[in-house]
Amino acid sequence: MIGVLDSGIGGVTVLREILKQGINAKFVYYSDSKNNPYGDKSSDEVYSIVKWVVDYLLDKGCVAIVLACNTASAICVKRLREEYPDTLFIAIEPAYKMVHDYNPKGKTLVMATEGTIKSEKFLTLFNKYDNKNTILLPCKGLAELIEEGNDVKINQYLDDNLSKYKDIDNVVLGCTHYPLIKKKIRRVLGDVKFFDGSLGVSKELVRQLELRGITFDNKSFSVDFIDSSDDASKENRFKELLTNGE
Ligand code: DGL
Repeated sequence: MIGVLDSGIGGVTVLREILKQGINAKFVYYSDSKNNPYGDKSSDEVYSIVKWVVDYLLDKGCVAIVLACNTASAICVKRLREEYPDTLFIAIEPAYKMVHDYNPKGKTLVMATEGTIKSEKFLTLFNKYDNKNTILLPCKGLAELIEEGNDVKINQYLDDNLSKYKDIDNVVLGCTHYPLIKKKIRRVLGDVKFFDGSLGVSKELVRQLELRGITFDNKSFSVDFIDSSDDASKENRFKELLTNGE
């Protein structure tokens, strides 16, 4: 069994890519919408919340855990790997290296939570590949609006916060909720190139499973969905997004 966690349904954008890799495992997706947003919380608070979810997923029998949340990865993965040396953690990160690989000269906007942008992990990556033509934009409150599914407020937020960046070429979607609003971002910024970490993380999962000789006997994959809030509508929305996209 493979656990996938995020502070809500945003990590569906990662699970979608993982499922394309043909891993016939049982997946358990933990949507921690009760604690959304992680991005505005202190590092200690995020760590203790994520550690609780990790323990829960390990108790269920997961052999690998995918942190399908840039904020949780940025803040927690180093400590988790130290505290759980036998567990395979696969962690997403903002796809800033892809900008370096594919369109390094382009004017770049990195959208992520404040927790991710301020983290040592992200700043190390950024300093390594800095193209000197990049704006780091903490998008406070945006993941919450996407989690709520409030299209009117999302459009207003994007008009208020992105309109001044009309000359952008590359947009790094550094939060797993943001690929769900690509069309809305294009409405404001025009025909930008998007970069997100979901494909990289999926390939890394396959690579690590192979390296460790972890295989699954099932004929096909299955996905169980768990949400930490009382909102019964989350599961339908998640399943719809898993199969139908944005
Ligand atoms: N989906 C989370 C991420 O990738 C962020 C949402 C939050 O702030 O909880 O960073």
